[in-house]
Amino acid sequence: DKGEGVEYTVRAQKGKTEIFDGTETNTYGYNGAFLGPVLRFSKGDTVKIRTINELDEETTFHWHGLEVPGDADGGPHDSLKPGEEKLIEFKVKQEASTLWFHPHPKGKTAEQVYNGLAGLIYIDDDHSKSLGLPNEYGKNDIPLIFQDRTFDEKRQLNYSAVKNDDGTVGDTLLINGTLNPKLTLKKEKVRLRLLNGSNARNYTFKLNTGDSFVQVATDGGFLNEPVTLKEMTLTPSERAEIVVDFSKIDSEKDLGLINEDGSILLPFEVSDQSGESSEVPGKMNDFSMTEEERNLPVTKEVELFGMMDQVTINGKKFDPERIDFTQEQGVTEVWEIYNKPDMMGGMIHPFHIHGTQFKILSRNGEEPPENERGWKDSISIQPDETVKIAIQFKNKGVYMFHCHILEHEDNGMMGQVKVE
Ligand code: C2O
Ligand code: CU
Ligand code: CU
Repeated sequence: DKGEGVEYTVRAQKGKTEIFDGTETNTYGYNGAFLGPVLRFSKGDTVKIRTINELDEETTFHWHGLEVPGDADGGPHDSLKPGEEKLIEFKVKQEASTLWFHPHPKGKTAEQVYNGLAGLIYIDDDHSKSLGLPNEYGKNDIPLIFQDRTFDEKRQLNYSAVKNDDGTVGDTLLINGTLNPKLTLKKEKVRLRLLNGSNARNYTFKLNTGDSFVQVATDGGFLNEPVTLKEMTLTPSERAEIVVDFSKIDSEKDLGLINEDGSILLPFEVSDQSGESSEVPGKMNDFSMTEEERNLPVTKEVELFGMMDQVTINGKKFDPERIDFTQEQGVTEVWEIYNKPDMMGGMIHPFHIHGTQFKILSRNGEEPPENERGWKDSISIQPDETVKIAIQFKNKGVYMFHCHILEHEDNGMMGQVKVE
């Protein structure tokens, strides 16, 4: 992992996209009309990104899951006015993973993401390349961004018409910005890099045949061992990499990825051709939780509460002038996050912290499930659930923590930790 100098220019742009055949709608995108490119870095790289705001409104460039100094993180403080640009620079110190980027302007994150501002980041390292996992981009290593949208009768995206303060859900699924996509594959192991890029919807992924698959990576890196699953849930902003072995699944049948309710998310068409014989090794990482980390006292408590525009963290709404917590750079602390139910019972809040990857120590006092024993930057928290995490920041700066239902975030379900 010697590292190189990598330079990117990322422009937030307005455009028009033909999502439905024959009809264009206004959209936003990075370096294009809708969504964005995959930015690829290797561990050790020094990355320079020239960020340019070509929108008619303020925006920021946030690198979700990336361990960057606070001044490169693109939180709401880092707002660029229309026409402004900013050069950021950082060194990639974290391991191979699938991250993403999106805007974070105060009160406008949900709308800008909804309109199309989102892209993926892949980090590679020497170890990940040596594992032998499927890694032919677009052939057996497939990025999949799941987002739900609602189009009006003229097939236009119109956020303000459908906005819901409790999280905007849509009736139309787009994958990588595409309506009704289909994935054509060979009879081989295929790695799917899943991102729940929706504003509020959760997905529970299953194969319609009932076959199992293995999860190989969490938000921030590989699991120690592949975890065999029949279904896996992602709440907004979570990622997972799964490997499906299409050489073992009967492709005479209709194949596809389905949601919990049985609705089809993504149909697969498997050709007779066999492909590469990639492997899923039994041992992929050496993620560990030390006794010391397990025994640390809780030093930060976070209480998530409320619904609609009444959402709070520790009883407060986001105030850009208020620092909620301070933490020392390089020191591990335990945060305890509690989702306090309300009279209606409450809802799942996907909780995210900027600028770092953390470890889940426990869920309601129990070990986390096997497929969460890896680096995470976002976690689903059920009503009345208490989650303990061990968290350390490698860089200094002010970082956001918030609910990743984007309307909750915009409504103030967000706080700030200052790392010094
Ligand atoms: Cu996906 Cu505050 O971020
Ligand atoms: Cu983030
Ligand atoms: Cu929430």
